[in-house]
Amino acid sequence: MIQNQWYAILPSKAVKTNQIVGVKRLNLDLAIFRNDKGEVGCVVDQCTHRGAALSKGKVERECIKCPFHGLEFNEKGQCVFIPANGKVSEADLSRYNVKNYTVRENNGIIYLWYGDLDKITDEPPFFNMDVDASYVYSEIEDYWNSHYSRCIENQLDVVHLPFVHHNTIGRGNKTLVNGPKVEFVPGGIVTSANNELDIGQTPKSASECLINDTYLSFLFPNVWMNHISEKIKVVIYFAPVDDENTVLYIRFYCKLTGIKPLDGFVAYFGRFANKIIERQDKRVVITQKPKASSYKSQEKLLSGDGPIIQYRRIRNELKNR
Ligand code: FES
Ligand SMILES: [Fe+2]
Repeated sequence: MIQNQWYAILPSKAVKTNQIVGVKRLNLDLAIFRNDKGEVGCVVDQCTHRGAALSKGKVERECIKCPFHGLEFNEKGQCVFIPANGKVSEADLSRYNVKNYTVRENNGIIYLWYGDLDKITDEPPFFNMDVDASYVYSEIEDYWNSHYSRCIENQLDVVHLPFVHHNTIGRGNKTLVNGPKVEFVPGGIVTSANNELDIGQTPKSASECLINDTYLSFLFPNVWMNHISEKIKVVIYFAPVDDENTVLYIRFYCKLTGIKPLDGFVAYFGRFANKIIERQDKRVVITQKPKASSYKSQEKLLSGDGPIIQYRRIRNELKNR
């Protein structure tokens, strides 16, 4: 994992008021809960007393209460009550504290800060300039037996389009890959496909290519957008589960008509299109070996893999920082 980043890990709607969800993210077993003020907390899903999963407990008095012997922890993970010691006990409870993680919500996504607390940045990465409240979106999720780096690279891969998606978004047998051009933006990269039917021409170099109106945008560590048009976008956040698994949350954003119920209707159908395309990708990506990609790998990359090379390079830089 890259340190000192906000990772998009879960949709906000997955954690209801006064409920706890147990999930594995970033190789950590986490109990994520929402108190009745609507605030989200996140602690390690293992009680310090005798190891029970806190996610099987409940939320009470804005605290998470262990199902086994009732120890209570606040959103900072501080132990605030041990029923067996009695209400009048004034003993120091700090040795029972559980580790907590800082979480924040943005655009209906729960982000977890992975790194040093004194390095926290204000704004979790998202495409705030591209999608706002004027859009309606639908969301699907799917579980891939792949490292999140492979899932992200797949979304930056323009070479695979005519093969994996030969009957959908890659129709037309455009196997010849021009460029693609890669541009660097704060926190990420932008690229677009310039593929053509091969009629014997030489592929253009990246510097001869432009970024099209339909383009791909990626922000570290794990959010991606396909800017299909001004009014239609697809956003994916790739929640890392562990070294071999990822949950993809795929959103279809629409403001085609500007009338919310109608746009909602389009977004509803958009999720089926997303699912068809995502399943085409998944079928192949989960077979990649090794499970995680790396900057210095044995793979023999093509010039069309430029966006993937840049992703690996920046990721490597951020990891070594
Ligand atoms: S294991 Fe949690 S209170 Fe005992
Ligand atoms: Fe694909």
